[in-house]
This record gives sequence, structure tokens and C-alpha cells, in this order.
Amino acid sequence: MLDLIIRGARLAGSADKLSDIAIKDGKIVDVSASVKAEAIDEYDAAGYLVSAPFVDSHFHMDSTLTRGRPRVNESGTLLEGIALWGELKPLLDAKDIKTRAHELCRWAIAKGNLAIRSHVDICDPELLAVDALLEVVEEVKPYLDLQLVAFPQDGFLRDPKAKEQLIRALDKGVHVVGGIPHFERSMADGSTSIDELCRLAADRGLRVDMHCDESDDPLSRHVEMLAQKTVEFGLHGRVAGSHLTSMHSMDNYYVSKLIPLMMEAELHVVANPLINITLQARHDTYPKRRGMTRVKELAEAGLNVAYGHDCVMDPWYSMGSHDMLEVASMGLHVGQMTGQAEMREAFRAVTSNGAKVLGLDGYGTEVGCHADLVILQARDEIEALRLRPTRLAVFRRGKKIATSPEQISTVFMGDKSFPVDFTI
Ligand code: FE2
Repeated sequence: MLDLIIRGARLAGSADKLSDIAIKDGKIVDVSASVKAEAIDEYDAAGYLVSAPFVDSHFHMDSTLTRGRPRVNESGTLLEGIALWGELKPLLDAKDIKTRAHELCRWAIAKGNLAIRSHVDICDPELLAVDALLEVVEEVKPYLDLQLVAFPQDGFLRDPKAKEQLIRALDKGVHVVGGIPHFERSMADGSTSIDELCRLAADRGLRVDMHCDESDDPLSRHVEMLAQKTVEFGLHGRVAGSHLTSMHSMDNYYVSKLIPLMMEAELHVVANPLINITLQARHDTYPKRRGMTRVKELAEAGLNVAYGHDCVMDPWYSMGSHDMLEVASMGLHVGQMTGQAEMREAFRAVTSNGAKVLGLDGYGTEVGCHADLVILQARDEIEALRLRPTRLAVFRRGKKIATSPEQISTVFMGDKSFPVDFTI
């Protein structure tokens, strides 16, 4: 006897046909045109799109949902955001951090996002956010995978306490080594920080995810060093470069040398379209650069490119509802990736590509994967990107953990009424 059969599913990647998905003990045990076995429960997907969950590859859980505290970012700029975070940090306590993190996780689940990699600022000597979020990791584990990155926001070398505190955060159980080389005092210090942080990760068998070259400086070279150290320490496929916005402005000849090095290192690329498009190129008049990394070229070269939300209602970004389809939609618009294959790649950037960044086990919709699934009110990935539709149901290990009613508007014209669901 099966636990659950989801019938009439259009699976992401093969949405041209209907499939049944059989689930037992939290795992997918069969995917076929018609599952004949009996199950304790059945769910009718009614021909709607069924996907493995969305993955947010880059987030900041410690600052999320603080909008307005102690004041709003009036200018919307990065610099006012950093100043605001400095004002806010002393006001935070563990209870507040946990309450906001749990609220954001509920938003994520309702949107079908069941894996989040969050950076956590380790520059507070008490490591308040580290302790609070490590508790949240365990508390939300039945519902979503929350992975933490030890992030030295004030600089690994620039802040004299950061090195000791980052190591303490890793000792406590933070999963991934972070960094911010472009925020160190000099390019040389940035390189030293990359060397030390990659060495630390290699010694401990950990992954690396650095805020890297998050600037408009065409001569910023930290991603080159990150790739080189990845190769030197044998961390191939275990290192992510987040943001990489300076690549947007780099010389094309240099990039033609850089991308093969990134390929050799099997570097993951995490772009954050919502934030990159708003915070970058603020010094430009016109023409105004877009500031997002070269997603199209990096993906075409064969690198794994994923998208992150980065911020939701915090000092840097007043907007957002943690909808990864909004992120992917912005990404494909900014990157001019409106080709059919490119749009399907944008969907993967917030699903399976993100799972590779996080190194998730058992992710997907094949037999043997965890029964973590999202049913969307759309017929394929491109329609999902266009509509950012209702998540009708969200399953975790075969158990329903979120539902939303189908959205159909009714328009009244004269004595007639018309249903509208924005499809043709
Ligand atoms: Fe970030």
C-alpha cells in the first residue's frame, strides 16, 4: 500500500504529458503514465505543473523582515542600507531573530521554497544570530532545508575579531564558509582572505560561498582568485561565487580567459537579479549598466548558474515576498534570456541548479528522490514564469504542508460573466 499518489501531473522538464507520482515512506517510488497500485491518499493535480521545490541559493535570514526598524532606507541605496544595518544590529535579540526567521520560512513554504542557503553575519562578538539561526535550522527541518553560511559582513581581515568569530561559528555547526573579499582594505587583502577561507574550508571538508566582486569595478579580480584557490585546494564543485556583478563591467578579452578557469574549478555562480538590478551602477548616469553578472554567457559555457532572493524587506530591499519565480522572471528579463530554452533554464536556476549549489541529496522528481513537490497553477515552466501562479499544494516527504485555493477571477460585462485565469 502506497502512502500517496499524485495523479495527472505535468512534470517540470516533461510538461507535454501527464504522469502519476507514487510515494511511500517520504520517497518517490514510481513515476508513470498510470499508477495502478492503491494508496492511503490521492491528490488530483488536474494537469497542473508539478515541480521539485524552489531553492533560494542566497539569502540573509538575520536581517529579513526588519523593514522600518529603526527607520526605512529612504534612498534605497546600498550605502544607506549598510548604515541602517549598523543601526539595527545592536537592537536585535535572539527571540526577535527567531520570530522573523520562522515567519520568513512560512512565507517560503507557502511559495514552495523548501531549501534556503542563508548567510549569517558573524561579526557580532556574541554570535547572537548564529545561535538563533542554528536553532531555527533544527526547528524547521521537518519542513525545509535551511543551510547557513558564516558571513564576515565587516571583512574577514578588516574586522580584527572576524577570524576568531568565524571559526567559532563553524565550530558551533554553521555549514558553509563565507567571505567578502571586495570589502577588505585592498585587492591584496581580498586575495589573502580568499586563500585563508578556502584553506579553512578544505581542512574542515566544508563548502564555500563568498560574496565576490559585488561591485561595478571592471578591474575587480576576486573571482579569478576564488577559482584558482578552488583548484589549488581541490574544492572543485564545492565553491560558489555569489553576485559577481563586476563581471558585467569587465573587459571581454579578460572574461574569455576567466570563464575557462571558472569551468576548471567547477565554480557555482549565484546571481541575485532583484538586488543586483537595484543596487548596482548607482554611480552611472547614462548609459546605465544593469549590474547583473553574465548569466547567459556563464550558463552557455556550462557553469551551474542559480538565482538567489538575497533580501526580503530588510535594510537593503523593501520589497519581496520570497517568491523565487519573481526572482527568475527578473533574471530572464535583465539577462535578455527570453529564448524558450533560456526561460526553461531560468526555471532551473531557482530549482535544480540551486539544489546543486547547496549540494542537496535526493532532490528531484525521479524515482528514489525525496517526495518534496510543489503543484503550481500553470501548465509548464514558461507559464509559471509568466504568471508567478498560486502554489496549489506543497508536499514535504509526501506530507502536505501548504495549500492555496485556485485563483480564477470573474469579470461581469452586461448580463454576462467571464472566468479569467490569464491563459489562452
Ligand atoms: Fe548577499
